[in-house]
Amino acid sequence: MGFFSKDIKSLDDLFVHTLRDIYYAEMEIKKALPDMIDKATNPELRKGFELHLKQTEGHIDRVEEVFEMHGVKAKAVNCPAIDGILEEAKEVVGEVDDKQVLDSALIAAAQAVEHYEITRYGTLIEWAKQLGRDDCAAVLKQNLDEEKATDKKLTVLAESKINLQAAE
Ligand SMILES: [Fe+2]
Ligand SMILES: [Fe+2]
Repeated sequence: MGFFSKDIKSLDDLFVHTLRDIYYAEMEIKKALPDMIDKATNPELRKGFELHLKQTEGHIDRVEEVFEMHGVKAKAVNCPAIDGILEEAKEVVGEVDDKQVLDSALIAAAQAVEHYEITRYGTLIEWAKQLGRDDCAAVLKQNLDEEKATDKKLTVLAESKINLQAAE
């Protein structure tokens, strides 16, 4: 389903399309996280990524639950946005030599990912409510809350030590 094939005729269609987009994104994030865990030097950062990998598996399950609740097939559609964010992250991380600077680069990349997820879930929740699917909104909200908490934790880590060490 592409934007230009006019397959999206209603807000409901757009909701399902965007759900498929975040479904794809979450699966790509799940694939990308093990490499970020490997590369992280700071133990807290590493632990944070490990936790978020587990949470991401839960996000995929919840999105599947919403597909089911809404009576549509769980299917992914390509999401060029997350592909771009992850590709750029890989490129930058690959070019950093200093381990502490690498942690800063990893945090920046992870926050770009979280912000993408936050914007998608925020939109999906609003649309779910407009469609009278408060039940779907409530499930999606659980994902949103975990993305927001992850983003906050990354900010705290960056501000407390990692950027300071990188600047030394
Ligand atoms: Fe997620
Ligand atoms: Fe996330």
